[in-house]
Amino acid sequence: MSTSLTIARPDDWHLHLRDGAMLEAVLPETARHFARAIIMPNLVPPVVTGAEAAAYRDRIMAALPDGMQFEPLMTLYLTEDTDPEDVAAAHASGLIKAVKLYPAGATTNSASGVTNFDKVRAVLEKMAEIGLPLCVHGEVTDREIDIFDREAVFIDRILDPVRQSTPGLRVVMEHITTKNGADYVLANETDLGATITVQHLILDRNDMLVGGMRPHYYCLPILKRAEHREALLAAATSGDARFFLGTDSAPHPTHAKESECCSAGCFTAPNALPILAQTFEKASALDKLEGFTSRHGPAFYGLPVNTDTITLTKSDRVTEFPAKIDAGDHTVTVFDPGFPVYWTVAS
Ligand code: DOR
Ligand code: ZN
Repeated sequence: MSTSLTIARPDDWHLHLRDGAMLEAVLPETARHFARAIIMPNLVPPVVTGAEAAAYRDRIMAALPDGMQFEPLMTLYLTEDTDPEDVAAAHASGLIKAVKLYPAGATTNSASGVTNFDKVRAVLEKMAEIGLPLCVHGEVTDREIDIFDREAVFIDRILDPVRQSTPGLRVVMEHITTKNGADYVLANETDLGATITVQHLILDRNDMLVGGMRPHYYCLPILKRAEHREALLAAATSGDARFFLGTDSAPHPTHAKESECCSAGCFTAPNALPILAQTFEKASALDKLEGFTSRHGPAFYGLPVNTDTITLTKSDRVTEFPAKIDAGDHTVTVFDPGFPVYWTVAS
């Protein structure tokens, strides 16, 4: 028995590629399946200026193996010193497609992020004026806010006030992990979208913590309760164009994941699409997969849908994915969904 599904080639609307040997190792894993990706700027040091984004784009293209096609959609890392005119110029030249907001200290390499939102007001106003989206890591960082509540508190304390005070600002809530996040998107008709990762559609916090702690399931925002996962799955499979795929594939060396202080991130680039196909099939929503992976993102970003296609096939045999890939002197452990996957990307 085999089933197949041909869809417009997907894009990844939230991706970490890193730099150097890691970039060379992980880029083919994304370029094999995805036409384009929004590239996260949280390098060390971060990609802050248009000139830095141009140089990073060149390094990505230099790392792309011969014969592979891929278009990196660059972003700038918002700091309290970001120059609105530099942002506007990088947008006008076509170089950048978004600016990324990390609240300072929220996650990996976010130390240069924003603490005082008054200091980025001029940049946000310029972005609203020119129609440049703000990609938001939506978690507060205050010590006293429980890690499982940080997304919900961010929406109330930061996101909604910023949106109210900056009419016309287009916002992508990156990697939403809660029903609160999905509901906030649903309650706001305009200028708002959200990406959802593979791991947040299939896992809840029990998968990470019961019976032993699984570091390869630790990412930020952290996995939440089952009811939140269910709300995200309902949003992703609803066909609502405000929700689209951003894998947040975030490679770390295996030793940094399997360590006393585990780095946050799941490396899902190699198997994101087969896992998604199986997840949508299980939810009786295979007909909604193409919208989520290939159509809603371009619509939000005002870009054309890819004209070529991929074909996903399902067979009786379990699809084998590599457990690890080599990255320079290290390996990166490939995300294991914890269940057998029968789908594969055929072409
Ligand atoms: O889990 C995560 N890993 N979440 C982020 O926000 C950053 C990312 C990374 O860069 O490793
Ligand atoms: Zn990310």
